Amino acid sequence: MTAEEESLAGGMVNAGAVFRRGELLERPAPRNARALHAHLLALTEHGFDAAPAPVGLTADGREQLTFIPGDVALPPFPDWAMTSSALESVGSLLRRLHETSVAVAVDTRAEWPPDLADPEGGTMLCHNDVCPENVVFRDGRSVAVIDFDLAAPGRALWDVAMAARYWVPMLDPGSAAALYPPGLDAAARLRILADGYGLSAGDRAELPGVIEEATAVCRAFVARRVADGDPVYVKALAERGGWERWDRVQTWLADHRKTFTAALLN
Ligand SMILES: Nc1ncnc2c1ncn2[C@@H]1O[C@H](COP(=O)(O)OP(=O)(O)O)[C@@H](O)[C@H]1O
Ligand SMILES: [Mg+2]
Repeated sequence: MTAEEESLAGGMVNAGAVFRRGELLERPAPRNARALHAHLLALTEHGFDAAPAPVGLTADGREQLTFIPGDVALPPFPDWAMTSSALESVGSLLRRLHETSVAVAVDTRAEWPPDLADPEGGTMLCHNDVCPENVVFRDGRSVAVIDFDLAAPGRALWDVAMAARYWVPMLDPGSAAALYPPGLDAAARLRILADGYGLSAGDRAELPGVIEEATAVCRAFVARRVADGDPVYVKALAERGGWERWDRVQTWLADHRKTFTAALLN
């Protein structure tokens, strides 16, 4: 790292390997970087300015993107990132992303990572990982989504479900307490996210079930990484309550399905 470079804290997978150099952001390139850069370029060409633009790929396997100035919330998540208006803005940002994404044809020859992909598939590229660490804020509102490493084709509703998991969050209060400010009302916040997105009545009726499905997919993803001995995931699982926490979250989601549906539709 040179004097002009700044190491950026944020996610888990590329921890310590993401650097800012002036207007540029440099990080390890995902395997499908070429297809992803073509997609990000197409988003930009369609007028979407709320994602990094691709700049280049280096010979040593890194990618360069535009750096997006602003604040990114890191765990434990600060109050400013969990206000109702922050949540509403994440919904509307995701909607804008999707409105542009549907207009961009997915490269079907590319190897999109299956890790967090919608099991039902789809014709639109979903981000799949719109968590606080992957959204840039300015003045309390979200202005950009970053880190498309886990993007894959799917239903728009799948992406809304994934975002809800992290932003509401869709966690039992005991589990939420470890990372989020106290007192967040999950049902009310799920409604705010859906309203910010402008989710249709049909999708609202399906959302709680899709959140449960998405939670199971995330659990399976963690289980695969842990089974492979990935130290980042082994450590995160141990620190965050192990499989018992996943059991508790999944039971809580099923127990409150009707409450969430009512909050979304009434
Ligand atoms: N294009 C960008 N503009 C601004 N900040 C960024 C950008 N890309 C990454 N960051 C910052 O670096 C952190 C880690 O980058 P990220 O690409 O999300 O890594 P990881 O793959 O480990 O999640 C992010 O949480 C964010 O704070
Ligand atoms: Mg990230």
